Amino acid sequence: MLPEISRSMLKNAAVLGLFAIVTVGAVTLLQQGTAERIQAAERAAQVRALGEILPAGSYDNHLLDDSMPMQDRLLGNKSPLPAYVAIKDGRPSAVILQAIAPDGYSGAIHLLVGIHADGRVAGVRVIGHRETPGLGDKIELAKSPWIRSFEGKSLSSPEAEGWAVKKDRGEFDQFAGATITPRAVVGAVHRALQYFDAHKAELLATSGETTGAVGDALESRTEPAGATVHSRAGSAATRDELQTNEPEAEPQGDQP
Ligand SMILES: Cc1cc2nc3c(=O)[nH]c(=O)nc-3n(C[C@H](O)[C@H](O)[C@H](O)COP(=O)(O)O)c2cc1C
Repeated sequence: MLPEISRSMLKNAAVLGLFAIVTVGAVTLLQQGTAERIQAAERAAQVRALGEILPAGSYDNHLLDDSMPMQDRLLGNKSPLPAYVAIKDGRPSAVILQAIAPDGYSGAIHLLVGIHADGRVAGVRVIGHRETPGLGDKIELAKSPWIRSFEGKSLSSPEAEGWAVKKDRGEFDQFAGATITPRAVVGAVHRALQYFDAHKAELLATSGETTGAVGDALESRTEPAGATVHSRAGSAATRDELQTNEPEAEPQGDQP
């Protein structure tokens, strides 16, 4: 009798064990697939945004090749993220920084901030956020043109006090019933401009010398022919995804 019970228990344990293994395997596969899809969507949003910020013809290099890892309190990132340098006729014409606004309504808002060599904002796009649909998501170009209000602005225009939403006596509109999100984005873009201003010599260096660190993370850079900054960050997308002078992308949703 006892051996019979033991056999039955063993059988049940084996079935349960097998079930657990199959379930864990299935969940792991699902998680991997989802993570890959999210990564691909973020990469696609980033490539699209880069193409929107800098129009065709404003650079003649592969942006994704000419990137460097940046990390700084002013950019809001805790680990290095690539910054892209646009080069036209051998001269750096603009930089696209990745910036994070940590103080969105629902957490961090991820941005690309394009800045012309003269310090004017070329364009800003949101590449990731969790703000509320119908309220904070108006930071997406697909939902509202608000994000374009940064274009042409610089550290001196407006002056520091103007870099705030109107409710805080600044120049930028807030949204009806949603001040926290635009306030966070305005602050992050302002800080990205401050970062650019503090590091523009290194970011836009055209000499063939190794210039050392920018922020905490920039390693050495050599520019033998026409200010090429070699990517060391491991770009978020491959060079084929953003070809030189790719046609201007249709403005679509910025949300991955
Ligand atoms: C469910 C819910 C979701 C909200 N989502 C956002 C949002 O995404 N962005 C935002 O700025 N405010 C959002 N708000 C409104 C904020 O709580 C706040 O009232 C608004 O931003 C005005 O902020 P202020 O009083 O500091 O000007 C949300 C409110 C609720 C109740």
